[in-house]
Amino acid sequence: MFTFPYDAVVFDLDGTLTCSDQGIIQSMRYALDKVGATVPVGVDLRAIIGPPLMVSLMELLGLDEHTARTAIGYYTEFFNREGMYLYTVYPHIRSILKMLRDGGVFVAMATSKPVRPAMAILNHFGLTHYFHRIITEEDNEKVVNKPELIRRALPESYRRAAMIGDRYFDVEGALANGIDCIGAGYGFGTEDELRNAGATHVVADTESLRAYLCPGAPIPRGYFLTMEGLDGSGKTTQMDRLEQSLRDYGYSVLRTREPGGCEISEEIRHTILTTDHMEMCPACEALLYAAARAQHVHEVIRPAVERGMLVLCDRFVDSSIAYQGGGRELGTEVVRTLNAPAVDGMLPDATVYLNIDHQLALERRHSASSLDRIEVESAAFHARVQAAYEKLISEDKKRFLLVDAEQDVDAVAADVLDVVLSRLEPEFEG
Ligand code: TYD
Repeated sequence: MFTFPYDAVVFDLDGTLTCSDQGIIQSMRYALDKVGATVPVGVDLRAIIGPPLMVSLMELLGLDEHTARTAIGYYTEFFNREGMYLYTVYPHIRSILKMLRDGGVFVAMATSKPVRPAMAILNHFGLTHYFHRIITEEDNEKVVNKPELIRRALPESYRRAAMIGDRYFDVEGALANGIDCIGAGYGFGTEDELRNAGATHVVADTESLRAYLCPGAPIPRGYFLTMEGLDGSGKTTQMDRLEQSLRDYGYSVLRTREPGGCEISEEIRHTILTTDHMEMCPACEALLYAAARAQHVHEVIRPAVERGMLVLCDRFVDSSIAYQGGGRELGTEVVRTLNAPAVDGMLPDATVYLNIDHQLALERRHSASSLDRIEVESAAFHARVQAAYEKLISEDKKRFLLVDAEQDVDAVAADVLDVVLSRLEPEFEG
């Protein structure tokens, strides 16, 4: 049985779990501008990340107490409206929290942020459910010191505990409580700052943090997510948007596509899609898609999912069933059968379907610059593809996540993210 070196772990928020510099600095610039204050010469605004705002405003930026309070009001207004959405979760953090929590380790957070913004961030990124205990400042009036915050975050009893933080006051707070401190060298402090303060160990990135907190622990299986839709459904744009959002949420994303995704399969892609081969027969086409898929699953998809990655794949076997089974009229069962050795049991955990009528998709395609051998097919072909997709979806309602792709781009992107997150994090609190 695997045992973790620490049975209680307390995380700081900014610079440890989340990368917050843009969110914090832009909110501060807005606040300073509103109260007519400027940043003193030689002061790096990044220094405000970590300590309570009141302390930074008065001690670092030299504001009097009244002006500082007014500035906090403006800061909060901007932060809630825009600043919070500039945050990102560091890579691997999600898997670290999950591994600790699933391994029975007590997981807590202690931050100098007031309760409302701290909870807003955790909820926004769906991280709240990983923590047994969350300790924040109650409000900006009375500043609680870090040792006290950490003391409150620790469980009643533990064998060995560690604080994970990126600034010297996190280290000092840990030492005051007699626990280890692992310095997050990837955050806003420097490695020297953390070592000089007495950190037990300093990690340069979150992958090293995972190795330190969960040495030798099996990495949880990743996730296989695909996106499907008719040509002209806006799939490429939505893949871009979803990929970026998932990275910002801290998922380790591997984006790939079919046909293609590795050298052999990209070569096959070219052979399939070039308009030089208009004579290609349906069976040849179907077998080439399957051949490309076999190598892609073997070389890219399965190994990445086993390494814990979230594989985001543009089209998969559903495309073959819809296009070759429906469009080319080879039939669903024939296409499914000839794809069995290619898929080799690696079915998607979930599939986003961009739902758009083939007529509207056709209009959108007409504005595209160059069309491939499949895209130039007749309207009747694409109508059969649509019908085949609809049949597939009706037979597997649990796997398919339907999104109305006839809306504007931003609305589609928001809906896609919504359905994907609710599937990835069932405990997600929004
Ligand atoms: P895609 O990469 O989505 O096109 P683009 O990048 O040009 O927007 O897909 C290429 C074409 O291949 C598309 O028309 C759908 C078709 N296709 C099949 O017919 N069967 C399949 O199994 C796959 C994966 C794609």
